[in-house]
Amino acid sequence: MKNVIDTISNATHLSCSQCSRVYDIEKLHTFSPCCNKPLVTNYDFKDVFAKEDLIGREQTMWRYAEMLPLFNSKNKVTLGEGMTPILPLGRLANRYGYDYLAVKDEGLNPTGSFKARGISMAVSKAVEHGVQECVVPTAGNAGGALSAYCAAAGIKATIVMPIGTPKMFQDECKHYGAELFLVDGLINQCGKVAGEIQQKTGAFNMATLKEPYRLEGKKTMGYEIAEQMNWILPDVILYPTGGGTGLLGIWKAFQEMIQLGWIASTKLPRMIAVQTTQCTPIVDTYNNVIQDSDSYKMSIANGLSVPHAFGEDMIMRVLKESNGSAIAVSDQQILAGVAEISSSEGILISPEGAAIWEALKMLTRSESIRTDENILLLNTGSGYKYMENLIPKGY
Ligand SMILES: Cc1ncc(COP(=O)(O)O)c(C=O)c1O
Ligand SMILES: [Zn+2]
Repeated sequence: MKNVIDTISNATHLSCSQCSRVYDIEKLHTFSPCCNKPLVTNYDFKDVFAKEDLIGREQTMWRYAEMLPLFNSKNKVTLGEGMTPILPLGRLANRYGYDYLAVKDEGLNPTGSFKARGISMAVSKAVEHGVQECVVPTAGNAGGALSAYCAAAGIKATIVMPIGTPKMFQDECKHYGAELFLVDGLINQCGKVAGEIQQKTGAFNMATLKEPYRLEGKKTMGYEIAEQMNWILPDVILYPTGGGTGLLGIWKAFQEMIQLGWIASTKLPRMIAVQTTQCTPIVDTYNNVIQDSDSYKMSIANGLSVPHAFGEDMIMRVLKESNGSAIAVSDQQILAGVAEISSSEGILISPEGAAIWEALKMLTRSESIRTDENILLLNTGSGYKYMENLIPKGY
């Protein structure tokens, strides 16, 4: 059994998420040229490590180093991301009759969201590959995270963000020394501008699932859920879904932990993707509804205003395999949810986090979720950055 965390990654190769074609992990990749789909990282599971080896390790996501793709720890770019707490929502559970209701509070990560995990991993790999400049289209939180981690790595960052994103998200990028472009549109339009910047400058494009490693950082949420819940997974996980890497990452971690022999394959949680009624691509595909992506609009949950997810096929597979579902809630519900959770539990939840609370209540009413199940919510970000979206609405 190995005890020292250093250059001990068990990553072996990348593969196309559609056709499994293998790609060399030593080289810098974006997405798969064979099928135009995301690339996923594969590992060797023989004699990797035992879960007991985790005892005493650092309280960050890097405690799972064997199952992360960084080969040389001197390339690690960290601000202390991960090992966020799972907090019981006792007062809400009492009020609504839930036996077990808890939230993993990702708002406590550096730069205030779960994006820190994926970006820490992807920037570390960028350093490992000698990248000097990165660009990203973002709904807000990934831009702040990329700006911060690139600052820490001494890499230039260019951020492309919708003009309607709260000013706090814009300002933090500038404080971290990034170059910021504002686009009149949603993240898909930002993606086009980021592509042009990539062409012009040669910057490496960090767009969601268009490079392989943000997913690897985000999967550590799944490892932590298992470890913090003493290796017994909840019955249901609700996740606010935009590009889908959070949801996909958690599911990938569960699959890997089955191979590691750390959890049983017989009792995996149902994964519920939550969106807003302003922007429902995953919910529409899940319900076989065809909708014009131009009809999607910005929500006060900025991170859920993603008209097209590059990894949509993968998201659908997870919903199916996990026996999960997809559901949308309105901005009005989200506002009420932020107020209810903040005033009941002392957690200033993000609009994305409030969306899943509102979705839970809807799914409980429709009896898709029972009150005696173990329910875990993922609050993906801090509400503090969204004040502009919340306060003027009058509460
Ligand atoms: C707070 C928050 N929650 C959820 C999401 C959606 O994340 P994903 O793209 O991994 O689905 C985002 C994306 O910007 C976000 O900022
Ligand atoms: Zn392929």
